[in-house]
Amino acid sequence: SKAIAVLTSGGDAPGMNAAVRAVVRTGLSHGVRVMGIQRGFNGLLSGEVVEMNLRSVSDIIHRGGTILYTARSPEFNTPAGVQQAASTCRSLGIDGVVVIGGDGSFRGARDLTESGIRCIGIPGTIDNDIASSEYTIGFDTAMNTAVQMVDRLRDTMESHDRCSVVQVMGRRCGDIALQTGIAVGATSILVPEVPYDFQKDIIERMRFTQKTGKKHFIIIVAEGVGGVEKLAQDIQEATGIESRATILGHVQRGGSPTLRDRVVGSEMGSVAATLLYKGKGNRVIVMQGGKIVDLDISEALNMKRVFDKNLYEIAHRISI
Ligand code: F6P
Repeated sequence: SKAIAVLTSGGDAPGMNAAVRAVVRTGLSHGVRVMGIQRGFNGLLSGEVVEMNLRSVSDIIHRGGTILYTARSPEFNTPAGVQQAASTCRSLGIDGVVVIGGDGSFRGARDLTESGIRCIGIPGTIDNDIASSEYTIGFDTAMNTAVQMVDRLRDTMESHDRCSVVQVMGRRCGDIALQTGIAVGATSILVPEVPYDFQKDIIERMRFTQKTGKKHFIIIVAEGVGGVEKLAQDIQEATGIESRATILGHVQRGGSPTLRDRVVGSEMGSVAATLLYKGKGNRVIVMQGGKIVDLDISEALNMKRVFDKNLYEIAHRISI
C-alpha cells in the first residue's frame, strides 16, 4: 500500500524531532503508511528504513538531535546514488519523502523528485541560512543556548575586568551572531556579510565605552569570520585589557528545543505530510511574513539571502 517517508539530513538541529513526529502522525492520520529513513539520504542507499507507528514518535518532542540520525551524503550526490535511492523507494512502496535539512538537502530532494520520487523539503538548520524562509527549525534553540553560555562568560569577565571574544556558529551566515550579540549587549558583532575594520569597529568602540565607565566587554564573532584567538590577542595588545577567546561550537546544536522550534517544526512537518498525501512534490515549506507556505524547490534554491542590515545597525547604535 501507499507509503510516505521522512528523513533528516545535514547538521542536526533542535526541533527536527518535532517535525518528524508531525510528519509521522499526520501521514498516519491520512491513512498512509509512514517510513523513517535513517542517516539522511544514506539510509536510502544502505536500506536503513523502518516502519513508523504512532508510538514510535512518542516522547521525542522535547529532545534535541534527531531520532532518525543524520548525515551528509556524498555517495547520494551522484547520478548513480540518486538512481539507487529512487529504486530503494520504489521497492519499499515509498512514493513521497519529506526531507528535513538545509540547502544541500533541498538539492537532494530536487534530484530525487526528478527521478520520480516526490519530495518536500523542510528547513532544519540552526544557521537560519535558507534564503526562501524567514526561519529555520533549530535557530531559536541555538541562539538561546548561545545567550546562556555568554551570560556565564559575562559573570567571569565582569569579575576580572576582561574582554570576552566569543565565536558562535554560522559558516556563511551571521544571523546567530547578530541576534545573540544584541541579546547579550555585545560591544561589537562580526558577521561574514559585513566587512569590519579592527580599529574602527572594535578598538574605538571599546575605548568609547571605556570613557563612560565600562570595564568588561563582549565581542561576538560568527564562525564565518573566525580567528577569535588572534582577535583576543590583538585586542589585548591594542587596549591593555585582558582578553579571552571562547569557541562555543557544537553545544549550540544540542539541547531541548524551545517552544518556537517545537511549534514551527510541528506545523511545517504536518503541512509537508499533507502535501505529499495530496500528491504534491518538488516543494519546500517555508515561513514568509510569519506564515507557513510552500514554494517550488528550484525557485526557493535560486533566492538570495538578505542580511538584516537595519538590525545590525541598531545593534551597534545601542551598544555604547
Ligand atoms: O549548519 C550547521 C552548522 O552547525 C554550522 O553552523 C557549522 O558551520 C557546521 O554546521 C558545522 O558542521 P559539522 O557539524 O560538520 O562540524
